[in-house]
Amino acid sequence: MTTEPLFSIPRSSELETVTITFEGRAITVPAGISVAAALLVGGVHDFRSSAVGQAPRAPYCMMGVCFECLVEIDGVPARQSCIVPAQDGMQVRRQIGAPALDDVRFAEES
Ligand code: FES
Repeated sequence: MTTEPLFSIPRSSELETVTITFEGRAITVPAGISVAAALLVGGVHDFRSSAVGQAPRAPYCMMGVCFECLVEIDGVPARQSCIVPAQDGMQVRRQIGAPALDDVRFAEES
C-alpha cells in the first residue's frame, strides 16, 4: 500500500493564476476555480441584492441549485457565479435586484 499522498498542493510559484475584476477591484486567484470561489477568496460577501427588499445575498450551495450567487459577468446579468469558471479579464459586478428579461441571456448565447 502506498504512503504517497493522493493530492499534492503546488507551490505558490507553480500556480497558474487568473485575474478578474469585481466592481473595479482586481482579484487574482488560482486558475480553474469558479467566479463565486474567486469572489469569496477576494473577500466579497455581498454578491447580489434580492429582488424584493434589496437584502444582500451570497452563495449558499456552490453547485448551481440555489441561485443565490447571481452576478453580472462581462455585462451579462443573472449569471450563476458558482458554475462559471473564473477567466482572466472577467469583469464582474453585483446583481442588483431582478434583471430585465431582455437583458438575460443563457450561457451558450454569451
Ligand atoms: S451558490 Fe447556489 S446556485 Fe450558485
